[in-house]
Amino acid sequence: MKKVTVILAHPYFSKSNANAIIVNSLKELENVNLRHIDSIYPNGKIDIEAEQKILSESDMIIFQFPTFWYNVPASLKNWIDNVLAYGFAFGANGDKLKGKEFLVSTTIGGPEAGYSSGNVTIEELFVNLKTLGNFTGMKNLPMVKSYGMAFIPGINEDLEAVQQNAKAQAETLIKLINNSK
Ligand SMILES: Cc1cc2nc3c(=O)[nH]c(=O)nc-3n(C[C@H](O)[C@H](O)[C@H](O)COP(=O)(O)O)c2cc1C
Repeated sequence: MKKVTVILAHPYFSKSNANAIIVNSLKELENVNLRHIDSIYPNGKIDIEAEQKILSESDMIIFQFPTFWYNVPASLKNWIDNVLAYGFAFGANGDKLKGKEFLVSTTIGGPEAGYSSGNVTIEELFVNLKTLGNFTGMKNLPMVKSYGMAFIPGINEDLEAVQQNAKAQAETLIKLINNSK
């Protein structure tokens, strides 16, 4: 059975509405290894060898995170910078990610209108991760995302919509996990 590793980056996960619903669904799958990097490495000091071993043994790698300032959370950037090292992800003998499926899944606080009709789209924002996938020889799957996911009392109070969108995002991910390869 295909091995799936989900790298979850969320610095205040205990307060999460959206990502919590998504990963709680994903971790029900027996072939999913969920790794919440902020809780595994609260001080940001990554066990690089351990992470690389897990990635080497995975067939599919998913980055799951809330979009923060049009980017990945700092914990994920730290993880990327440390784990995807020379000799592992690129450079001499750096072919350990080659051929693996790579999926980027994010929740976005703002409405879809802020990322369409002439605005920078989410795919354009995260072209860096697509390039990362290409550069390391992984097979990029289409991004999975949902908008309007910030529950902020007084601003966006529709918690039910956030929860519904999160469930739909989880279902999309589960289909992609089950259908690919
Ligand atoms: C520090 C910070 C930066 C954020 N930046 C953005 C942003 O650039 N664009 C956006 O649409 N939402 C932004 N948001 C909203 C989050 O994306 C949203 O709250 C999150 O996806 C909801 O997921 P959760 O319930 O799992 O926390 C930001 C939130 C925080 C805390």
